[in-house]
Amino acid sequence: MVQATFSARREKIKGQPNPSLIFARVSSHQAADLVVQLSPAPKSKPAEVDFGSVFTDHMLTVEWSLTEGWQAPLIRPFGNLSLHPACSSLHYGIQLFEGLKVYRGDDGRLRLFRPTLNMKRMASSAKRACLPAFDQSELLECIRRLVEIEQDWVPHSNSASLYIRPTFIGTEPSLGVKKPARALLYVILCQAGSYFDTKNEAVSLWADPKYTRAWKGGSGDCKMGGNYGCSLFAQYEAEDYGCQQVLWLYGDDQQITEAGTMNIFLHWINEDGEEELATPPLDGIILPGVTRQSILDITREWNEFLVSERYLTMAQLCSALRQQRVREMFGSGTAAMICPIGHIFYQGENLHVPCQDQQITSRLAKELTDIQVGARTHARTQKTEVNDVSR
Ligand code: COI
Repeated sequence: MVQATFSARREKIKGQPNPSLIFARVSSHQAADLVVQLSPAPKSKPAEVDFGSVFTDHMLTVEWSLTEGWQAPLIRPFGNLSLHPACSSLHYGIQLFEGLKVYRGDDGRLRLFRPTLNMKRMASSAKRACLPAFDQSELLECIRRLVEIEQDWVPHSNSASLYIRPTFIGTEPSLGVKKPARALLYVILCQAGSYFDTKNEAVSLWADPKYTRAWKGGSGDCKMGGNYGCSLFAQYEAEDYGCQQVLWLYGDDQQITEAGTMNIFLHWINEDGEEELATPPLDGIILPGVTRQSILDITREWNEFLVSERYLTMAQLCSALRQQRVREMFGSGTAAMICPIGHIFYQGENLHVPCQDQQITSRLAKELTDIQVGARTHARTQKTEVNDVSR
């Protein structure tokens, strides 16, 4: 099998001081320079799976410098990084990350869900962060190799997966605000159960225009740590109001943009009396979510109602709620998947959002999970996009 093929390629590097560390050169035309250094002491896997706290035994690192370009990618035992204290990612937030998952199907095979979309978004975040360009398919092949090595960490469950966190940081060791001359791209993996401890219950949102997540000309459409770190202050104010997440508004007309760390969807009867599933358009302030795109692809294929990328304002939502035209609202993201919304606290009022039946929410969650674990195929989300790790 796959692991056996890999073992067959192992070769010890002469003079390696620790005989339990094994190096291998993988002869692949896509990631031909990959060097693998296996951990001498794999950890035991926890019985309970939470989100993002237990990491696997190995990580991928690839260094870049202006003078030498990209170095050979290295898969090595998971461990701390050693960074110069002036490192530009620590001082000026020159960094970005991605989030994608690998799922184990009932057939035992491992599948990445639409990883090329994450690679594409990562490349565009790198451009915006003035970090160097990288070859998307080469990185994906290195990630596939890392997942292959860590395959025993992928939970045997339809409700848990292995979360992949590619990260790209400027490691320029000086304090000038400039394009980094050194950078580090690394990938870590962790087990991922439910993101919210609400399980599948609807979340409540706090909507107040005094905080802004992203703005025109900014970097809200890139997956940069700063967008998330800056959201915490508002997040804690939301909690003071008894809400779980922030409903991010934008502009004088209070456009609905995102919910917490998720894209947002409204299923309603619109102003023209049409049944519609709507989400804000990718106009520069919305993160181009992979789950968002998949929901659009799947519901467009259902062809049962209008599916739109359009502006939605608080005034439109309030009037639709008053006129009982709202059917459901939900957030979407890789970590949270699909998360129903039950209440919105806005201008001193707790607005109830219908979510009893969760018709679209639960149908979409089931359909997405089925595609992710390979129980069903979907023309756009699976055929061309899902990479079978265990090929
Ligand atoms: C994701 O949904 O993958 C995210 O990036 C959310 C997160 C910051 C955990």
